[in-house]
Amino acid sequence: MGRRKNSNDNNMNQSSHSHHSHNSKIRFEDPEEEEETTQCSNNLDESMCDPECSDKAIDEPNDVMEGDDKTSADYYFDSYSHFVLDVGAGTGILSLFCAKAGAAHVYAVECSHMADMAKEIVEANGFSNVITVLKGKIEEIDLPVAKVDIIISEWMGYFLLFENMLNTVLHARDKWLVDDGVVLPDKTSLYLTAIEDAEYKDDKIEFWNNVYGFDMSCIKKQALMEPLVDTVDQNQIVTNCQLLKTMDISKMAPGDASFTAPFKLVAERDDYIHALVAYFDVSFTKCHKLTGFSTGPRSRVTHWKQTVLYLEDVLTICEGEAIVGSLAVAQNKKNPRDVDIMLKYSLNGRRCMVSKTQHYKMR
Ligand SMILES: C[S@@+](CC[C@H](N)C(=O)[O-])C[C@H]1O[C@@H](n2cnc3c(N)ncnc32)[C@H](O)[C@@H]1O
Repeated sequence: MGRRKNSNDNNMNQSSHSHHSHNSKIRFEDPEEEEETTQCSNNLDESMCDPECSDKAIDEPNDVMEGDDKTSADYYFDSYSHFVLDVGAGTGILSLFCAKAGAAHVYAVECSHMADMAKEIVEANGFSNVITVLKGKIEEIDLPVAKVDIIISEWMGYFLLFENMLNTVLHARDKWLVDDGVVLPDKTSLYLTAIEDAEYKDDKIEFWNNVYGFDMSCIKKQALMEPLVDTVDQNQIVTNCQLLKTMDISKMAPGDASFTAPFKLVAERDDYIHALVAYFDVSFTKCHKLTGFSTGPRSRVTHWKQTVLYLEDVLTICEGEAIVGSLAVAQNKKNPRDVDIMLKYSLNGRRCMVSKTQHYKMR
């Protein structure tokens, strides 16, 4: 099954799409194209998925917006003229969006040399009076205001948590956000599913068993430990998708990003399973319309692609049988930007009985 497109370069076997199943619908907005996507079934926490409880505003007429072209963002910024903090501003694009939407002032904090570029970009676009670019770490800089009303940040890494910028955002939240302040985006959920992936597993993993007649299987062990960031074709999905964890960025503690979540993946057809695949959704639930996007294999491909965890063994699964287990996610102790993943799984099927623990490191 040909699927992979381009390679991602910071991983030995990384190279680099859809959406989850099935029982409820959420409208996620895309700036270019409005599409309806479905959310996962079997959620442990249905809050993001259940149309009854996810956000009443989704289908309700929006009287604030009626009669003009304003977006929710315009409403926010116009009505309250907020101070905004952009954490890890990069090029400053999010700060520019905020300024354009009417923020009173935006503080764009960026620790890398991109801060110089962001300054130039802000000037070139005539927003120097609204956006102040501050070069430095959010943990170390001082803002010229006591508090901000909104924190905006694009902090998500591969597998959501790789590079661990979340703690930086939480630090900024606790230090700089007013008590009833808003974090954008504010909700994110991590999901797991299982895929058939014979061709690519052969190519990337089994390859090392016999390299021009030589046994290099020691490299295979290493390759198996490295999650592959890649796009997955939705036709490869064999089971349901399972919600592992929902995080509320406006409330969570830093430690909540390390967790162990149980899962149950039920086969929707007879097939082989070569890997489990993780992906995440991000939502802006405080907007007047629930807005967000998914990085799942049934959604339009994003920069984050999906994260593929290859299994040591090929599982033969029959429709209705379930792989049960747990996924433990933790910051690496030596390098907190890296993520350690422990996968426990078992299948007690007609064709296959297996119980295993595998360890992965995203670095
Ligand atoms: C994913 S990028 C965001 C890019 C930005 N939204 C854009 O489109 O250009 C994250 C940025 O956060 C910056 N960053 C990471 N940790 C930071 C910290 N502690 N303080 C300030 N900036 C940080 C990085 O240098 C990087 O530019």
